[in-house]
Amino acid sequence: MSAPIIDGKQISKDIRAGIQQEVVRLKEHNFQPGLAVVLVGEDPASQVYVRNKEKACHDLGYYSEVHRLAADTSQEALLELVDKLNHQSNIHGILVQLPLPKHIHEKAVIDAIAVEKDVDGFHPVNVGNLVIGDDSLLPCTPAGVIELIKRTGVEIAGKHAVVIGRSNIVGKPVSLLLQRENATVTMCHSRTANMAELSRQADILVVAIGKANFIDASFVKPGAVVIDVGMNRLESGKLAGDVDFESVKQVSGPITPVPGGVGPMTITMLMQNTLVAAKRSHGLA
Ligand code: GUN
Repeated sequence: MSAPIIDGKQISKDIRAGIQQEVVRLKEHNFQPGLAVVLVGEDPASQVYVRNKEKACHDLGYYSEVHRLAADTSQEALLELVDKLNHQSNIHGILVQLPLPKHIHEKAVIDAIAVEKDVDGFHPVNVGNLVIGDDSLLPCTPAGVIELIKRTGVEIAGKHAVVIGRSNIVGKPVSLLLQRENATVTMCHSRTANMAELSRQADILVVAIGKANFIDASFVKPGAVVIDVGMNRLESGKLAGDVDFESVKQVSGPITPVPGGVGPMTITMLMQNTLVAAKRSHGLA
């Protein structure tokens, strides 16, 4: 028997439909969420991501600004733009697309974004609030992972969750969010000695290591929820996750495909964060 597939595209559509209704209501009060996206240079993947964010804003009725800056833009000029956006009242969310060109210090730029407009959830204050369980803007992909797990109907509380990968953008925040949902969390990484053994104990397995098809059925307990955050471009041009989907779905419980699992959720959660930031700016959330 094959496992149920978690349809990230459909779940994303459902969430966006809810957001859209709320935006319509806010517009009746002459209020529109606004997102500014900043792209420095011409990285092809970043250009696609930024276009998708622009389109999502357009589809949902947000105000949107995209600032496309030359690859040789100075750090000072970028910081000046961030400062201007921090003070712009029609902008509630600011996202500086990463990676930045090498001459720009990413941390200096992230630190310069106003905490309440940091819709990526990358600012150290938002990260700190996540750690201590205070209100914060949550990083988009980890928030999407939790949403997908919740929508399987599987209870997170009391379960053993194993997170493979310890990046600041995915593994660490996912493990914190799972703990917040009362899972018992084990983190595995490149130096973990007995990864398959630990992974086989997981009721909920989240994989974010950036190695195509690395996790096969031998890592998976029968019936476990499997969330694959990997997005690896194969030589054939095809996209592959970190999980060997064909092998794992024979033993797992609900499982995300790649593409069509976690991917579509990231921008949806960005839109959700921007809505939350906008409402908070008006004392509505
Ligand atoms: N580049 C790849 N993923 C992301 C993301 O989630 N946020 C930003 N700002 N840049 C990215």
